[in-house]
Amino acid sequence: MRRTILSFERPEAALVEGFRGLLERYSPSCFVSDVMERRRTLRSDIRPVVGGRFAGPAVTVKLYPGDLVDCLDALKVTEAGDVIVVDAAGETETSIWGGLMAGLCMQRGVAGAVVDGAIRDIDEIRDLGFPIFSRAVVPRSTHSPYSGRLEPIEVNVTITCGGTIVAPGDIVLLDRNCHTSHHYGMVLSGAHVVYLDAYPLNEYSMYGAVPIRSIKERLLELKRAGKLDRVKLVLLTNCTFDGIVYDVERVMEECLAIKPDLIFLWDEAWFAFAGFHPTYRRRTGMGAAARLRDRFRDPEFRQRYVQFKKQFGDPDDGDPRWLDTRLVPDPDRARIRVYVTHSTHKTLTALRQGSMIHVYDQDFKQKVEEAFHEAYMTHTSTSPNYQILASLDIGRRQVELEGYELVQKQVDHAMALRERIATHALLKKYFRFLATGDLIPREYRPSGIETYFDSEQRWARMEECWHTDEFVVDPTRLTLHIGATGIDGDTFKHDYLMLKYGIQINKTSRNTVLFMTNIGTTRSSVAYLIEILVKIAQALDERNEDMSPPERKLHQLKVESLTERLPALPDFSHFHRFFRCGSGSMTPEGDMRKGYFMAYNEDLCQYVTLRDLHKHIASGREVVSAMFVIPYPPGFPILVPGQAISKEILAFIEALDTREIHGYRPELGFRVFTDEALVESANVVASDAAPVRITEPKAA
Ligand SMILES: Cc1ncc(COP(=O)(O)O)c(C=O)c1O
Repeated sequence: MRRTILSFERPEAALVEGFRGLLERYSPSCFVSDVMERRRTLRSDIRPVVGGRFAGPAVTVKLYPGDLVDCLDALKVTEAGDVIVVDAAGETETSIWGGLMAGLCMQRGVAGAVVDGAIRDIDEIRDLGFPIFSRAVVPRSTHSPYSGRLEPIEVNVTITCGGTIVAPGDIVLLDRNCHTSHHYGMVLSGAHVVYLDAYPLNEYSMYGAVPIRSIKERLLELKRAGKLDRVKLVLLTNCTFDGIVYDVERVMEECLAIKPDLIFLWDEAWFAFAGFHPTYRRRTGMGAAARLRDRFRDPEFRQRYVQFKKQFGDPDDGDPRWLDTRLVPDPDRARIRVYVTHSTHKTLTALRQGSMIHVYDQDFKQKVEEAFHEAYMTHTSTSPNYQILASLDIGRRQVELEGYELVQKQVDHAMALRERIATHALLKKYFRFLATGDLIPREYRPSGIETYFDSEQRWARMEECWHTDEFVVDPTRLTLHIGATGIDGDTFKHDYLMLKYGIQINKTSRNTVLFMTNIGTTRSSVAYLIEILVKIAQALDERNEDMSPPERKLHQLKVESLTERLPALPDFSHFHRFFRCGSGSMTPEGDMRKGYFMAYNEDLCQYVTLRDLHKHIASGREVVSAMFVIPYPPGFPILVPGQAISKEILAFIEALDTREIHGYRPELGFRVFTDEALVESANVVASDAAPVRITEPKAA
């Protein structure tokens, strides 16, 4: 294979100049290595062969073991000041670089080269004065001069050289309230994570979605810190399990105004059906990507951008107007790079595990294809299940032919259910479906629409708010508030719906249970659900009538605890210094992978009980989780490896009455990093940080 990626993202000129400025200092490579906490330092066997100092953007070359060729192709890409870095598979008996290559580099102003392999013609290179590092020097050349063959070779791809990966430490902005798989994905990829907090819905013990303002705030903060070039991806869940849907187009448009090549990953696990109905489609990743591409080509949009630019200029440090203004991206620079995941099996017709990844990436061919296929091969089975694949084809064809009708029916059934509960005298005593006004704070709802249905005003026009509001609710997600029954969500799910009537649901919160309609929902299934809810309500009526006075008091307290005294949902606290990326980093990104693998070492971890943790935190100590701690529900981590434990998080855990908390053992407590682990970190990262010893606190 012969592949040359012609354009690549060069670091900002000021950054490169900064590094060049260091070259005049004493032993510059040593302090760069120190500041990078020893990461990405080349191994000692890569040595200077012709001396000289250089710094510049790396043009990478990958060659293949046993078949090394000349690497003239790199010269198609290099600009003055670049550095060529060659992964020659560490082979020392074939030289891939000689006098010719050095001379051509000199002509083009290439600053120097590093070769993980062998070079030759060193007298000539020395006379030319071209600085070069390599593992070995050997006269035996590649076969290219004899065979004329110049492949396999790849230019501008991720390579390893001297035992280190030459690729930037990517920063990913991640919705914390996202599915566990993404958090583990971050551990695998080693990306540095900035967690975004969704707005909380404390009354229902659930989170909403991440407001565009806070996404922009984080991006601008990273820009001010000079880290925008490392930000690669924003990952959001659309729609959320509870049915909150983003204005996908607006999110992408505004973010692209700050970083024009930002990649978006929309987790649409529960939204595969949405592409087949015009109201929904606008708010899907793929639908919005196509619309944006069209708009960026439109001369009217270009005019809008010119006006915007005149009025607001570039995103300015701390200019609050950038947070409160709808930003307009530069249509000539913005790239549409959108990835969407669908659990097709959840909402369309497919066998379980039948899922799809949809790609709308203008730079896919140039920048992603190889890595994408490699990652796919890494994570999938080598034994494909043809039944699942066939079911995906059937599911796709089905919605292609009759998707609109099926989705519309799914909406109609949901609306019928909402109407029935709101108007049924017995049902409305105990049950209420949460409406738009309950799930979306007013500031994100300029339409002012509170509910799609109420018994007085009847139906509101759903399409209207789907056009204007920052967030909308998918009406087919039916969150039933059950606080008035005095039964918590988990008990209602198991003891009432499941054990008595064989109805299985997935999602509960303290005082809600979630139903959904889908393309398979029928009138009779809706009628059956209503019939069961009526039976449960009748049984509750009887239970209430037969209560003794103390029982009634207890019941009243339970209802109050489910409707009034709900624990506040905690925000993400912060990553401990050791897991922050760079000493004194003012931005919040953290290296979760480091914490995750550090916790494999038993000696660095210990268990601390909830009681003792309270005391440590009250005394101002920072205690750091070694684990993901994930209560089900809500099913997302309230602690991740490397995160400091806050008193709000402890209060939330104490107030939870869920059966399952992964990563927390009530008899032992929380698994946290020991004082020794953090003493080491404190020494490395922040010399002014006092080491903390976690010991049994004295009784208060
Ligand atoms: C939001 C979200 N994303 C991803 C997933 C994972 O999907 P799958 O189980 O199809 O791999 C789920 C599963 O429930 C989910 O709720």
